Amino acid sequence: MRQIEIAVLAGDGIGPEVIREAVKAVETALSQSDARVRWTYFPWGTDYYFQHGRMAPADYLDQLARFDAILLGAVGHPRVQDHITLNGLLLPIRRRFDQYVCLRPSYLYEGVRSPLRDKAPGSIDLVVFRENTEGEYVNAGGRIYQTFPEEIAVQSAVFTRRGCERIIRAAFEMAQDRPRKKMASITKSNAQGYGMVLWDECFSRIAKEFPAIQTESLLIDRAVMEFVRRPESFDVVVASNLFGDILTDLGAIVVGSMGLAASGNIDPTRQHPSMFEPVHGSAPDIVGKGIANPLAAILSCAMMLEHLKLTTAAAAIHRAVADLLRTGGPRTPDLGGTATTEAVGKAIVGLIKANNPITVQEPVVPQEEIRAIAAETA
Ligand code: NAD
Ligand code: IPM
Ligand code: MN
Repeated sequence: MRQIEIAVLAGDGIGPEVIREAVKAVETALSQSDARVRWTYFPWGTDYYFQHGRMAPADYLDQLARFDAILLGAVGHPRVQDHITLNGLLLPIRRRFDQYVCLRPSYLYEGVRSPLRDKAPGSIDLVVFRENTEGEYVNAGGRIYQTFPEEIAVQSAVFTRRGCERIIRAAFEMAQDRPRKKMASITKSNAQGYGMVLWDECFSRIAKEFPAIQTESLLIDRAVMEFVRRPESFDVVVASNLFGDILTDLGAIVVGSMGLAASGNIDPTRQHPSMFEPVHGSAPDIVGKGIANPLAAILSCAMMLEHLKLTTAAAAIHRAVADLLRTGGPRTPDLGGTATTEAVGKAIVGLIKANNPITVQEPVVPQEEIRAIAAETA
């Protein structure tokens, strides 16, 4: 039996609500395999902060280092400034474990309506490679003359050749493996004349190593416009930490909802644990209502299983999500439905069981049966 150690940081707001369903989906997907997960829950986050004055114990990064992967819900609370909560837990994990690839796919599932008119299922299918350890997020800078009218704040962005090259190369490698073989690099090098010019130079240089890939370089202002005007044209997109952050909320809503957007913070060298989390935050506007969409967290778990090379279980989850959406199964209000978080989680568990390739032979489950399961759990 293969024993897998996962650290769970359910965190704040809707984090625990969606993680609960995601864990059930993983347990179901792995039930027919020889892999078992030991989930270790850490109560870190803003509640911990209210009690202890910090988001997690001082040695929290050392505690996390031994795990095979980290599953995170969300961090952020309306009563505490975000830069304190995020720099006290989430962002140091990405840096310390050198999770330099932030992988964020946007796919328009059949059965989901894009807010953009006339988009066919599957027509939008892009993946953003967000640089995840430097750039605008290095948290270097300072403030002087605080409280005075002369107050000054300096916030530095750091771009290194190694940092640019490794994320760009990882993105090209993914483009090489995808059928359309296209790459877009997003910067603002017309105004940011140092770091982002270095980025552009690295992009041009590495592009030469991948002659089969069709490339384009866009400025971020143009890129956000093109994400709305021609989202279908994007395949692999590579961007800095901040631009990748912004582009992936846009990518999420263009394919229907923040509640579908999955994400992996990956250390491709596998020296450290990678961390998987939905793109969304703690959603204080819907917390406690039981209506958060758990599919982003569930799909993040599929990415986690893929990273752990548990590809059959990952595929089972992907397939259950696609089936649920295609067949009009229960959906939360962000997708126009009335279902609860729990009902969606339960329907996914049902579909994973029904689709299990070990218990059922192809053609896996008749459409009517999938519809019946979906209706039953609605
Ligand atoms: P958010 O992603 O939490 O919410 C944006 C909007 O999307 C809200 O209307 C919310 O209700 C909706 N939404 C998000 N996830 C949803 C889901 N699963 N199902 C249905 N609707 C969903 O962004 P925000 O409001 O800008 O941030 C709230 C807090 O979360 C802040 O403290 C912010 O710093 C933090 N945040 C944390 C992370 C993270 O932990 N990775 C990511 C983004 C924001
Ligand atoms: C994300 C979030 C974080 C980020 C915040 C909460 C610091 O928005 O994961 O997209 O910007 O990376
Ligand atoms: Mn974000």
